Amino acid sequence: MNKTLMIEAPAKINLTLDVKGKRNDGYHELETVMHQIDLVDRIYIQPALNLSVKSNSPDIPDDSSNLAYQAARLILDNYGRGEGAAIFIEKNIPVGAGLAGGSTDAAAVLKGINILYEYDIPFESLANISAQIGSDVPFCLQGNPRIIVDETVEGNVLENDQNIKGSTCVARGRGELLTSLPARFLPWILIVKPDFQLSTAEVYGKFKIDQIHTSPDLHAFIKAWEIYDIIEISHFCENVLETISAVLCPEVMLIKKKMERLGAKKATMSGSGPAVFGVFDGPEDALMAYRVMKQSYIETYLVSSYGRGD
Ligand code: C5P
Repeated sequence: MNKTLMIEAPAKINLTLDVKGKRNDGYHELETVMHQIDLVDRIYIQPALNLSVKSNSPDIPDDSSNLAYQAARLILDNYGRGEGAAIFIEKNIPVGAGLAGGSTDAAAVLKGINILYEYDIPFESLANISAQIGSDVPFCLQGNPRIIVDETVEGNVLENDQNIKGSTCVARGRGELLTSLPARFLPWILIVKPDFQLSTAEVYGKFKIDQIHTSPDLHAFIKAWEIYDIIEISHFCENVLETISAVLCPEVMLIKKKMERLGAKKATMSGSGPAVFGVFDGPEDALMAYRVMKQSYIETYLVSSYGRGD
């Protein structure tokens, strides 16, 4: 049987990101609002005897350093009967950007292999595996991504296009303790990534809590989110890692200033950067800003939230 499963893997932005301190295990205690956006990798999975991971991007390793490979190995070793999987990653999310590109591919592989091989693994068990792969993977497992299962021989094509849903959560702990926020749709999100990759470990390694001067007001952010006031939502976006990442990649601050001059109510770095996002409240400013930023930065994207929410 020639079966192929396609699953979308959406990127995330951190609308807020606060670091509360360093933990005994070397990680940092986080409090961050994560939001899935419509900038997606597409993961194609076919049954195979061995495990292989390929992609259309030269930036993606095809060995066990790839989080998608690690995810496949974990699920196949724990639930399989010796089978492998042939995985192809269509990469659209910039790498080393702070947009969880590798983590979302890993989460999609967990979901995809569970469906392809009908393992019937409960969500909690998938969530436990996901936390072993990386701090952002449990969040990336949330939501209902688009999935197409194509069984060529039997002529069946199944698509779950009724219920495509993105997720927004407050993540605490290392990032694995998740509380869902209500679904809200942001139609105009501009993302700009300078031509530079940052290592998450390096950014956190330089973090010093006594050097934080302003931190996000989570309470005010959630209030703005609940009443769905896009200008207020944008106003309360804030990331305490920005000043560290900006030392390693000064263009972060230039992009922020430029985006704000072009009409973003506020421009904020996502995760450990260096990608910067701006939430716009209408198409005119957003489209104009997209055109201007695109002239200087190839990796400029105008996107919306992923899915339509609940
Ligand atoms: O969990 P993940 O492997 O994605 O994290 C990459 C690096 O980021 C970790 O090795 C750690 O240095 C840092 N990190 C952290 N605290 C977190 C998440 C990540 O210090 N909560």
